[in-house]
Amino acid sequence: MAISPDPHLTLVESSIAHAELMATLHAACFDDAWSTKEFQDLLILPTVFGFVVQSMDEIGGFILCQATSDECEILTIGVLSQWRRQGLADRMLQGLVIKVQEIGARKIFLEVAADNVAAKALYQAEGFKEVGRRSGYYPGLKGRIDALILAKTM
Ligand SMILES: CC(C)(COP(=O)(O)OP(=O)(O)OC[C@H]1O[C@@H](n2cnc3c(N)ncnc32)[C@H](O)[C@@H]1OP(=O)(O)O)[C@@H](O)C(=O)NCCC(=O)NCCS
Repeated sequence: MAISPDPHLTLVESSIAHAELMATLHAACFDDAWSTKEFQDLLILPTVFGFVVQSMDEIGGFILCQATSDECEILTIGVLSQWRRQGLADRMLQGLVIKVQEIGARKIFLEVAADNVAAKALYQAEGFKEVGRRSGYYPGLKGRIDALILAKTM
């Protein structure tokens, strides 16, 4: 995690008003796009929160999470391709850590496809460790792909 976050990256906590924007960003980042309704149904839950991150004048990334008092799960995170490798995901994960500390949760969990090189590198750089594996969890063009369960202890 970067020690000095880029001051040009603005983090905004998401509300239900961001559902359409988050669905658009999600569709640009993933093949299995989540609808605006799916984001609305999640964002309305008291346990769900997220951020969008703005660089210059453009919203370039989003993260959505669900937390209990003990642990937090990253439900989805993505950065538009033109904004990648510029610290946007790092900035959102820094915001997440602060929020998780406020909640008092002890762990952050997520699932990542074993062939997702960029995401695995991101999570490794942010201090996540593999704590489990779901064999053949995701469909893939060349056969099913394992899901890695990663965790970061606060
Ligand atoms: C994974 C993803 C969110 C990373 O977002 P990003 O804003 O580009 O990441 P950052 O710029 O904050 O990268 C932080 C660090 O993570 C690592 N990293 C990120 N992308 C990487 C890549 N493609 N290759 C190698 N390392 C990478 C690096 O250590 C990087 O630091 P550095 O640039 O100083 O070397 C982005 O690639 C993405 O949206 N992918 C598609 C959606 C997706 O797979 N989401 C995750 C699902 S689990």
